[in-house]
Amino acid sequence: MADKKARLTIDGIDEVFELPVYSGTMGPDVVDVRALTGKGLFTYDPGFVSTAACDSSITYIDGGKGVLLHGGYPIEQLAENSDYLETCYLLLNGELPTAEQKQTFVNTVKKHTMVHEQMNHFFNGFRRDAHPMSIMVGVVGALSAFYHDSLDIDDAHHREVCAYRLIAKMPTIAAMCYKYSIGQPFQYPRNDLDYADNFLQMMYGNPCEDYVTNPVLAKAMDKIFLLHADHEQNASTSTVRLAGSSGANPFACIASGIAALWGPAHGGANEAVLTMLNEIGDEANIEEFIVRAKDPDDSFRLMGFGHRVYRNFDPRAKVMKQTCDEVLAELGIENDPLLKIAKRLEQIALEDEYFVERKLYPNVDFYSGIILKAIGIPTNMFTVIFALSRTIGWISHWSEFHSSPNKIGRPRQLYTGPTQRDYPTK
Ligand code: SDX
Repeated sequence: MADKKARLTIDGIDEVFELPVYSGTMGPDVVDVRALTGKGLFTYDPGFVSTAACDSSITYIDGGKGVLLHGGYPIEQLAENSDYLETCYLLLNGELPTAEQKQTFVNTVKKHTMVHEQMNHFFNGFRRDAHPMSIMVGVVGALSAFYHDSLDIDDAHHREVCAYRLIAKMPTIAAMCYKYSIGQPFQYPRNDLDYADNFLQMMYGNPCEDYVTNPVLAKAMDKIFLLHADHEQNASTSTVRLAGSSGANPFACIASGIAALWGPAHGGANEAVLTMLNEIGDEANIEEFIVRAKDPDDSFRLMGFGHRVYRNFDPRAKVMKQTCDEVLAELGIENDPLLKIAKRLEQIALEDEYFVERKLYPNVDFYSGIILKAIGIPTNMFTVIFALSRTIGWISHWSEFHSSPNKIGRPRQLYTGPTQRDYPTK
């Protein structure tokens, strides 16, 4: 696999370490440093800024060029021509489905949208004002108490059944989190509706009247699901892979991904963007917040800006901005004050030397919150939507990990604590 070598010399050590260098189909070459442990050395990379933790064929990102590919297909083309469930099939199988394969996939997902009636009882332990992400992480974790018929993680069919169940049930659970928080009865899924329509009717339908979705909103919802589906080895996906490496229950692994996603530096940013825009309140206040964002002594960051990988526009943000304009125009709220603040904030930040120098551009979360708010999704449900969407990415990576022999993940450290010492004798 390696026809190239890296050579490492270290002061005080006579040996020249030859390390294999591997090339993927796209992206940077990697230096295989595993042999260094045998030489009494570790590599050091807090935050995994330059570490390839695995091989993967699911998603490719070029941060410098703002490129995102799923199975080789650019995200812009998938957003324009595909839909969320077709993209789920692509992420799971590595190829787009034929028309027949897609229909079978959609029908199979539809047969798994209900949750076990026992699941309803888990909600009652939560306060009604609990953050929906706290409910979701608990309830999805509780799925690990069910489905003992398909938990051989080395069986590809069992892994596929887990994927179907999760893709199908996450919208149901997400809507249940919302219904519970507002004291309304849970809405059952309906198999006569498409994925996004079904989610919206579970969110906004009720037993007293028929709910008819606005097709523009349903299309925007599906596009938001698609744009958030997967993103290589981000923090939550890496969490799922690491949890999966111990052989843990797949539903418990997804719960670990939900927990990691919740942070404001990651999937919690969409909620934080809306909070920030509301805090800014008026275009006249933007400058004050830009100053705070640039102040190293102020923990405030411009939420929805910056990215560990993208040093250019997040390609998803561009599609999201276009969808935002479409949705607000459809709803006749193109003059939404938050959108005006967001667009002015983006314009100022993109011209400011601090952001230009650090290559800080709007990311996927910058516009998604404005669309979700326009669709009527409450702010505290934004990251729940992100978790719903990203479940396919998590379970695809979890399945890829288990599809070939792999070791438990076990990083090491640079120890900076006390050297060995004896317990003081009395
Ligand atoms: C997601 O990994 C993924 O793929 C994630 C994701 C996915 O789909 O899974 O794309 C989803 O999580 C998108 C990111 C959402 N988070 C936010 O919008 C929160 C705001 N952004 C920042 O917290 C930050 O940009 C991160 C966390 C996203 C990235 O942080 P890094 O890579 O660790 O970069 P850094 O903190 O080292 O920042 C480099 C410099 C620093 O300044 P200096 O020390 O060089 O002076 O840029 C500054 C930072 O202070 N900086 C910001 C900033 N982001 C970075 N300054 C102000 N506002 C910001 N938003």
